[in-house]
Amino acid sequence: MTTATKRRAAFHELTVSGVRKLTDDAIEVTFKVPEQLVNDYDYVPGQYIALRTELEGEDVRRSYSICQAPVTGELKVGIKRDLGGLFSTWAVSNLREGMQLSVMVPEGKFTSQLVAPPAHYVAIAAGSGITPVIALIESALRADPRNRFSLVYSNRTAMETMFVDELADLKDRFPARLALYHVLTREHRSSELLSGRVDADKLSAILDELIPPKEVDEWFICGPFDLVQLCRDTLAERGVAVADVRYELFTAGRPDRISGQSGRPIVVSAEQPLHTVKFRLDGTTATVTTPMHSNESVLNAALRVRGDVPFACAGGVCGTCRAVVVSGSVDMVENYALEPDELARGYVLTCQSIPTSDFVEVNYDA
Ligand SMILES: Cc1cc2nc3c(=O)[nH]c(=O)nc-3n(C[C@H](O)[C@H](O)[C@H](O)COP(=O)(O)OP(=O)(O)OC[C@H]3O[C@@H](n4cnc5c(N)ncnc54)[C@H](O)[C@@H]3O)c2cc1C
Ligand code: FES
Repeated sequence: MTTATKRRAAFHELTVSGVRKLTDDAIEVTFKVPEQLVNDYDYVPGQYIALRTELEGEDVRRSYSICQAPVTGELKVGIKRDLGGLFSTWAVSNLREGMQLSVMVPEGKFTSQLVAPPAHYVAIAAGSGITPVIALIESALRADPRNRFSLVYSNRTAMETMFVDELADLKDRFPARLALYHVLTREHRSSELLSGRVDADKLSAILDELIPPKEVDEWFICGPFDLVQLCRDTLAERGVAVADVRYELFTAGRPDRISGQSGRPIVVSAEQPLHTVKFRLDGTTATVTTPMHSNESVLNAALRVRGDVPFACAGGVCGTCRAVVVSGSVDMVENYALEPDELARGYVLTCQSIPTSDFVEVNYDA
């Protein structure tokens, strides 16, 4: 599979060319990509886009993984309604063919790092975590007739399972090379192994009986925080190298912390002690101050003076807001996006970085 390149997180208005119901709570949305933007929306399987709109007077941005192997001229995402969720509730009820939405160019590193086939890929996904995996499966199996893919896919019930028909179609196309293991947490399946929550015991049993880790070349884990953490820990205990595991979190960080809405108003008064934040973006620099007591993120401060500072999840998950610290220091609260080599090169997630020195300078162009 091809590798991802980093580009500037720009948004363009795209037209919705189709909306298809997947389950009672989920839709697939297709966007038409006009010819002049085809290169901007080129993507690698596993990447995501961010969708942006104004809801209840707020600039709302949310990330959605692209759910089909790369094709030119269109993008497809699967959106599942998150109970009480602002954007997904609106999208599932309101998105219609012909509407326009602001769509960020594809981003993300939940992509294959393997260069030479043959390979055995394994994905463990839950709920809407299937979306990037669908693209990865199809691409891997099409790329080389020796590649194999095994998928463990957990859902509450069969009715709530997204892309169940598409997975069955892939199984028909690649019967010997695709292994599908549907795990249902609220319905009983004929196999005990595939019924109930994927906890430490069940995951161990799956690895013992169905997918021996030593026969796997690359792992993709996608879903909520608990599942990603469980898989990472279990695979590490089984001796799987960190470099062989890619993961994507769909929730913004830890469930016990709700990420702040970026761009919230902060009152800056010259009588309070202030941090000064200088940032470079698209070749120009800007400076903003932020009250020390507010613990405001670098991103949030920067957005007060420039509306085009890149971000998508605002939760330390997607990596869109990364920048290099040129001088001064910050405290990065969460990081689910940057790799150790990026940290070593001075990158931080500005949505999670609170200044700790009087003056901080970051470079988004680095
Ligand atoms: C890289 C990436 C890729 C993603 N891909 C997909 C995808 O392909 N498909 C998909 O469906 N999703 C995907 N997501 C998740 C998606 O971006 C959204 O996070 C999700 O749709 C929820 O957004 P929302 O606006 O509906 O919910 P939000 O309004 O952001 O709320 C999220 C949850 O928090 C709860 N909540 C919010 N505020 C409070 C509060 N004050 N107190 C208590 N609870 C609160 C809500 O009830 C809800 O359950 C992806 C996320 C990332 C980071
Ligand atoms: S905006 Fe997603 S990590 Fe900062």
